[in-house]
Amino acid sequence: MIAIGCDHAGFEMKKLVMEYLDQIGEEYQDKGFLVFDKNDDYPVAAKAVGRAVSKGEADRGILICGTGIGMSLCANKFRGVRAVVASDVFSVRYSRMHNDANVICFGARVMGIGLIKELLNVFLSQPFEGGRHAERVKEFDRILDEN
Ligand code: RB5
Repeated sequence: MIAIGCDHAGFEMKKLVMEYLDQIGEEYQDKGFLVFDKNDDYPVAAKAVGRAVSKGEADRGILICGTGIGMSLCANKFRGVRAVVASDVFSVRYSRMHNDANVICFGARVMGIGLIKELLNVFLSQPFEGGRHAERVKEFDRILDEN
C-alpha cells in the first residue's frame, strides 16, 4: 500500500498521480490534503505519510509539493523513512537499488505528469540490491539513535 500526500502546490498533481495509480492498479491511501486550501502546508502532509511508512502501515510513500524538497526534509525525520527528491530515471533507479528509498517526493512546479509517471514506474518496480548497501542503509537509523 502506498500513502500519498500533498500541500497546496501539489494538490492538482496529486489528483493526476492518483488517477495513474488507479490505472496501474496500485493500492493507495490519500493522507491529504483532501480539499484545496492555499494554507495547506507541506509539513502536515509529510508527517502523515512519513508516520504511515515509519509505522509500516504503508510500504511506500509519494509526496508532492512545489519542489519536493520541503516534503523530503520533513519525511526524513521519521525512523525508517528514506525519502528522495529525484527528477531523472537514473537517480530514481539507484535510489531504490542502493538506498532502498521508500518515499519519493515530486515537485509539481518543476515536473509534468508524464515524467512523474515514468519515475513512478521505476520507483515501484526496481528492487533494492541489498548486500553491502543494506549495511549502509542500516546506518541511517543509527544516526537517529546516536543524536
Ligand atoms: C509552497 O509555496 C512551497 O514552498 C512548497 O510547496 C514546497 O515547494 C516546499 O518545499
